[in-house]
Amino acid sequence: SKVISLAVIPGDGIGPEVTAEAVKVLKAVTQDGPARFELTEYQLGAEHWLRTGETLPDETLEALKGHDAILFGAVGAAPGDTQMPSGLIEREMLLKLRFSLDHFVNLRPSKLYPGVASPLANPGDIDFIVVREGTEGPYVGNGGSLRTGTEHEIATEVSLNTAHGVERVVRDAFRRASERPRKKLTLVHKHNVLVYAGSLWKRTFESVAADFPDVETDYLHVDAATIFLTTNPSRFDVIVTDNLFGDIITDLAAAVTGGIGLAASGNINMEGTFPSMFEPVHGSAPDIAGQQKADPTAAILSAALMLHHLGFDAEAERVEQAVESDVASRAGNTRTTAEIGDAIAAAVS
Ligand code: NAD
Ligand code: IPM
Ligand code: MN
Repeated sequence: SKVISLAVIPGDGIGPEVTAEAVKVLKAVTQDGPARFELTEYQLGAEHWLRTGETLPDETLEALKGHDAILFGAVGAAPGDTQMPSGLIEREMLLKLRFSLDHFVNLRPSKLYPGVASPLANPGDIDFIVVREGTEGPYVGNGGSLRTGTEHEIATEVSLNTAHGVERVVRDAFRRASERPRKKLTLVHKHNVLVYAGSLWKRTFESVAADFPDVETDYLHVDAATIFLTTNPSRFDVIVTDNLFGDIITDLAAAVTGGIGLAASGNINMEGTFPSMFEPVHGSAPDIAGQQKADPTAAILSAALMLHHLGFDAEAERVEQAVESDVASRAGNTRTTAEIGDAIAAAVS
C-alpha cells in the first residue's frame, strides 16, 4: 500500500484531544486499505511558545513542507496566560502556515446531517460548501498604527487583494460548483462599500463565469448573506468569498448545521506545491479543554476531507457515513471525546 507521510500538529486546548480521535479513525479506516499513514508529530502552539519562545521556526516550516499532508488541531492561549500577546500564535503559526504553504482554498463544507438539531425552526436541506480565500484579504498584516495610545491614534488594516489571488480561488469555486448537481455559485462580498476590492472580485467573478456557462451565479452582500444563512440556508450550493467574510460566515454556517463541533475544513494548496492542511473550524476552546467534553467530529471530518484530497475517496466516504450514523443517534446521550472517536473508529474498521 501507498505510504503517506503525515504531519500531525495537535496544538493547544482541545486540539490534542480531538486530533487523537481523528488519528484513531484514520488508522482504523486505512488498516488494510490502499494507504498507510506514517505520522510525525510536531509540538507547536501557545504552550510550546510559553516553554520555548518559538512560534514556527524556519526549520520546522521546512520540515513540514516535506510531508504529504498536515493534520492540525487548534491553537490558542491558555486561560490565565498573561504573557502571550493576543493572536500571536494564531498569526505567527497558523496564518504563517496557511500563507507559506499557499493554502489559497480554505474549503469549509456545511451539511445538516439527518437527526442533527439545528437552532433554526425551518432549516430545510442544508448542504453547501464555502470556498474561503486563504492567503489574502485583511489577514495579511498590512496595517499600522500612528500616534499609538494618544487621543489622535490612527489604526489601519488594509485588505490585500491581487488579481492572481482572486482569480485562482474564484476559478476553483466555479470548478467545484460545476461538479456538483445543483451547479450554483454565490459570490459573497460587499462591493457597495469596499469599492476597490469589491470591484476586483466582481469583475473576476464575471469573467471566470464565462468559462463555466453551466454554472448558475448570483451575488450577495455579506450582510444579506447572513440573513439568508439563517432564513433560507438551502438556497446555497457553493459560496466563494474573501478571507475575513469567509471566517465569519463559516462560524454561522457551523452554528445552523448543529454546531462548531461538527464543522470541518481543509486549507488546500490546489497546485500541490506544498502540503495541504486539514483542521476543524473551531479553536482551542479553553472553556472545555482537558475535560474530554469536546466533540471530535469536526476533526474526524477534517481527516475525511484529507482522505478525499489525497485521492482515497472510498475511505473518506466510509468515515463520512460512520459520522452520519453516529450523529443521527446522539440525542440525549453524553459521551466523552474518546468514546465518540471509539464509536466512529469501530464503525469504519
Ligand atoms: P472556539 O472555537 O475555541 O470556542 C467557541 C465555543 O465553541 C466555546 O464555547 C467552545 O467550548 C465551543 N467549542 C469549540 N469547539 C468545540 C468542540 N469541538 N466541541 C464542543 N464545543 C466546542 O473559539 P474562541 O473561544 O473564539 O477561541 C478560543 C481560542 O482559539 C482563541 O485563542 C482563538 O484565537 C483560537 N482559535 C484558533 C483556531 C484554530 O486554531 N484554527 C480557530 C478559532 C479560534
Ligand atoms: C479559523 C480561525 C482563524 C481564522 C484564526 C484563529 C486566525 O478563526 O480558522 O476560522 O480567522 O482564520
Ligand atoms: Mn474562525
